[in-house]
Order: sequence, then structure tokens, then C-alpha cells
Amino acid sequence: MTDAPITRGLEGVVVTESELSYIDGTKGILIYRGYPIEELAEKSSFEEVLYLLWYGELPDEKTLAEFSDNLSSNRELPVGALKVIVELADQGETPMAALRTIVSMLSGYESNTKHPIDPTLVLQQGVYITAKMPTILAAFDRVRNGEEIIPPRKNLSHAANFLYMLTGEEPDETKTNTFDTALILHCDHGINASTFAARVTVSTLSDLHSAITSAIGTLAGPLHGGANQRVMMMLLEIDASNHDPITWVKEHIENGNKIPGFGHRVYKTKDPRATILGDMSEELGAAAGDRRWHEYSISIENYLGQEKGLSANVDFYSASAYYQMGIPIDLYTPIFAISRIGGWVGHVIEQYSENRLIRPRANYTGPLELKYLPINKR
Ligand SMILES: CC(C)(COP(=O)(O)OP(=O)(O)OC[C@H]1O[C@@H](n2cnc3c(N)ncnc32)[C@H](O)[C@@H]1OP(=O)(O)O)[C@@H](O)C(=O)NCCC(=O)NCCS
Repeated sequence: MTDAPITRGLEGVVVTESELSYIDGTKGILIYRGYPIEELAEKSSFEEVLYLLWYGELPDEKTLAEFSDNLSSNRELPVGALKVIVELADQGETPMAALRTIVSMLSGYESNTKHPIDPTLVLQQGVYITAKMPTILAAFDRVRNGEEIIPPRKNLSHAANFLYMLTGEEPDETKTNTFDTALILHCDHGINASTFAARVTVSTLSDLHSAITSAIGTLAGPLHGGANQRVMMMLLEIDASNHDPITWVKEHIENGNKIPGFGHRVYKTKDPRATILGDMSEELGAAAGDRRWHEYSISIENYLGQEKGLSANVDFYSASAYYQMGIPIDLYTPIFAISRIGGWVGHVIEQYSENRLIRPRANYTGPLELKYLPINKR
């Protein structure tokens, strides 16, 4: 009815400035606050990257120790949250939805929510939520499997503590480093859908808990974070069917389906995170003496690259890496969330600092001037 041009899916629309991450989708470059993702993945820790994203610079040793200590001191969950975790597990809720629900209810235990936009308080809330997300997820997984909840340990890193709470065993250095790297790689990625959801939420001057709840709900979908679980289901289906992976993929494309873990709104070449995760997945397979998952993945990647010009995204290789670490498939997307909280909090702080209500418009295509009929005349 009106004729303003429409940009479906806001493709290519620039909505803000951000100092958090730079993406060159043509060259396959990702930079967090000036540092290439490859260097951060190799040399830093998740805690260090969180600090970088939230405070704008790399911490020195003392600052990082204090920051990490603050995080590890906030890992315990209130008893009320543990009760709801048990209830949700009993109802057969998914881990991603349980994470969303508990993050939302945690605002009731947090005294800072009355001052949503003070950056110091937002940062402390960020620590509070970030520290607890792995505890929520591990507790939920154990309860649904009829196992005792394992309380967090303060003397383990964020990555090691999560794996410990999940399995009851302190992970070795390889597992810890692999998981830590995966957390670093997923931490921020420009104005992706879940980050945009967080920014839209706080653009109304709402609070961080609401923003993270919106963001988790947005990340859950199969076109965003939910793709990593579907990648593993695809690889398992291929394995069980004894099909050649290419035949399987061809059939699925012919039936009009998209292949999870491929394509990206911003990258027109291979996602640099997929390169690092692909190496990790290959190493895990080699160490276990089972190269199946990597071989399937490589043949799918080559086929889709040559035939369709599609490249692997972050979700393609994180799936087989997590699988080979023994992590249950439906935890992959919530694990994405326990990392991406880093970016969400950073973006919320940026949004508050230069806020303007995010409020786009739609061209109305419905009727005008209909006559209202009383209910007994319809
Ligand atoms: C990520 C994604 C949503 C980007 O979507 P988008 O920018 O809207 O791009 P489109 O869906 O319009 O795709 C453009 C073209 O590539 C094709 N394409 C994109 N991703 C594809 C995939 N994974 N498998 C098969 N074909 C794909 C589309 O069918 C479309 O082809 P067409 O022009 O002939 O219709 C999309 O690539 C996708 O659904 N990928 C699978 C899910 C996934 O891995 N998500 C995680 C992203 S990190």
C-alpha cells in the first residue's frame, strides 16, 4: 500500500557502529577488537577474550586473575533455580529452552536489575549470568539423566569447570584447550540475529536479563545457532545409512532442503572459525583413531563448494568436534550460547552508550476501510 523500499531480512543494512568485531566476508577475516581470531584462538583464553570484549583491551596478569576470580565466584546457582531445573527436566524440556528460562528467572536473585543501564552494574550482571550459564546447562543435563548435580569448582577455568560439572571428571589439557578455543571462536560475530535481538531489547532501556533471554531464544533456531545440532544429526544419518555423503547431500538438496553448516549471510568464502574448528575436529578424530566424521565432512565441504559455491560456516565443524569430545548433541546450541553471551553483553553496553530506540516499519499490505459488522451479523 505504501511504497518504501523493503530490505528483506535487513540484508546488507547497517544499523549501528560497533567496536567489538570486524568481519570481512569476502576475504574470510574475523577480528575481535583489533585482534585476529586465529591469534586469539591460539594464544588467549575465554576469560581473556571476555575481558577484551567487555573492557576494550587485553587485561594484564593481575587484572585477568581478578576478573577470572570474580567469574568463578559467581558459578553457584540459587536453590530456587536448581528446583526449576529439576522441574523442567521432568517435563522433558530441551536444554536450550531450560537455559533461556533459568537465565530469565535469575533476575529475581540479582539486586542490580533496577538500574539497567549503568555500565558498571551491567558488567557485574554480565559476570553473574555468564558464570552461571555453564552451571545451568551441566546441572540440567545431569538431572535429566538421573545423575547427581556436580557443584562448580572455583579452581578450574570456565572451560574446564563446565566439562567437569558435565561428566564429574576433571578434563585433560587437550579437552580443556579444545573446548576453550571453541568458546573463544563463538564469542562475537557482529550484528548476527541473536545479538540484534539483544540490542533491540535494550534499545527500549530494558535490562540485561531480558536481553539475554531474547538472545537465547533467537539463537535457538536452525538458521542460526541451532544448525550445529542438525549438522551432527546429518553426519549420523549418513553414517547409519551407509550412503556416500555426496549422494545423501544431493538428495537433500534436490528435495529443496538446505544443508546445515553451509552458507552465511556475511561470509561469501569459508568462515575462518570453520577452518580452526575443522583442524580441531581432524585432530580429535586422529587421536581417537576414527577419522569417519572428518572424512564425511571434507567430502560434503568439497562437493558443496564445487557444485553450489557454498562454504562451511562455524556450525559445520563445531558439531563433529563436540561429538568427538563426547558432548550430547542437544547441548551444542546452548554451548554456543554460553560463549556468545560475551558478545551479547558487549553489544548491550554499546547499545546503552549510544542508544536510540530500534523501531523499523513495515509496508502495510492489508485492506483499508472495511465495514465493521456486529458479531451476530458475520
Ligand atoms: C545461513 C543462512 C540462513 C543464510 O541465509 P541467506 O543469507 O538468507 O541466504 P539464502 O538462504 O537466501 O541462500 C542463498 C542461496 O544459497 C542457497 N543456500 C544457502 N545456504 C544453503 C545451504 N546450507 N544448503 C543448500 N543451499 C543453500 C539457497 O538455497 C539460495 O539459493 P537460491 O538463490 O537458488 O534460492 C543459510 O545459508 C542457511 O540456511 N544455512 C543453513 C543453516 C546454517 O548453517 N545456519 C548457521 C549459520 S552460521
